[in-house]
Amino acid sequence: MLDKSTVSVSKLDVFYKNRHVGTLAETPEKLTAFQYAPSWLNDGFSISPLSLPLRNDVFVANPEPLMGLFGVFDDSLPDGWGRLLVDRMLTSHGIDPYEVGALGRLAIVGSNGSGALEYRPAIDTPLESTIENLDEIAAECATVLASHESQNLDALFAMGGSSGGARPKVFYMIDGEEWIVKFPSSLDPEDIGQTEYELALAAAECGIEMPQVRLLPSQQCSGYFATKRFDRITTPDGAVRKIHMASAAALLETSHRIPNLDYDILMRLTLKLTGSTSEVEKMFRLMCFNVLCGNRDDHSKNFTFLYRESDGWALSPAYDLTQNPGMNGEHATTVNGRGRDIEDQDMLAVAERTGISKRKAKEIVERVKAALCRHEKTQYMRLLASGKVIS
Ligand SMILES: Nc1ncnc2c1ncn2[C@@H]1O[C@H](COP(=O)(O)OP(=O)(O)OP(=O)(O)O)[C@@H](O)[C@H]1O
Ligand SMILES: [Mg+2]
Repeated sequence: MLDKSTVSVSKLDVFYKNRHVGTLAETPEKLTAFQYAPSWLNDGFSISPLSLPLRNDVFVANPEPLMGLFGVFDDSLPDGWGRLLVDRMLTSHGIDPYEVGALGRLAIVGSNGSGALEYRPAIDTPLESTIENLDEIAAECATVLASHESQNLDALFAMGGSSGGARPKVFYMIDGEEWIVKFPSSLDPEDIGQTEYELALAAAECGIEMPQVRLLPSQQCSGYFATKRFDRITTPDGAVRKIHMASAAALLETSHRIPNLDYDILMRLTLKLTGSTSEVEKMFRLMCFNVLCGNRDDHSKNFTFLYRESDGWALSPAYDLTQNPGMNGEHATTVNGRGRDIEDQDMLAVAERTGISKRKAKEIVERVKAALCRHEKTQYMRLLASGKVIS
């Protein structure tokens, strides 16, 4: 049973594949301290190499910009849609959401978060009920967004209460594997699912590594966008393996709400973390795609790195590629210092500083342009990106 005392949490243990990673504790200043467990220090890995190196220390997070939490744990918290569901769920139990701190919220996430980190002791929450029909889920999401009472809040919470990102979404099983299905927000056009699906196909043609995607049928709109989870792998015997992941925002201890990134930083982060020039090229290709198709919502939570014990860090497949005019028409992440009117030479300048040869960089830019030209909708987006269409 949820009540005020259950969600008041001052100490929490972090687990990865049932191994104790470390302990989180609230400091008197309401900041979060973290220490790796001795066993993890012996044979674990750094869960966030820049700010939480693998050493015996008590790390205390800065008060800003992540409200006293380290980014890698902040990544486990739902934001946007998921947070709204958690807050509604807390309110329905007579708990003031503003009184629930970061550790209480992580305990609510428990073992249901994105990535591989789990939090114990977890707080029991309604996780039993689900809705199968996607049109019904979409209708319930719209009801919740319109601030009306929903009879199915528990089901929505169970299916998407620990998801990241602003838009309504649910974790959904397809053919025994875990997927994410996205639904329109109140500001999105009705065909947003189809647009995201088409853009994902265009991105794959540009040579960008994409997760498997599908456009799931609907009686109400042109379809719902579904993406297979890259933080879950189902083994042939049906067991599910979780993959540790951290967003660029988490690794850099910044907030995706602050547009303070430049692709130079992302490229350097990629090189530092992966030590691989082909991973840097992957980031460069994604940058070119975002510029040329007009995806200006390229904030620091829309880039993620995966950690595999056998191979170390690598860039995740791409996600959240949408037509988005951005804040004031600017990219959230600047290219060669520019948020708009970005030209080929800006992209090539980024490549040059990051050690990608001019020949390779030009080849990538041309491949992305050629693939986008084959996609009718994205041609429009190129015009949008070049400022020739007023959005
Ligand atoms: N295929 C995937 N596998 C695993 N995690 C994913 C996948 N796609 C997205 N995610 C995670 O879910 C989060 C939300 O997804 P996404 O960015 O697509 O949603 P959104 O609501 O449109 O986001 P935004 O708030 O940036 O508009 C991402 O930040 C990422 O952590
Ligand atoms: Mg996103």
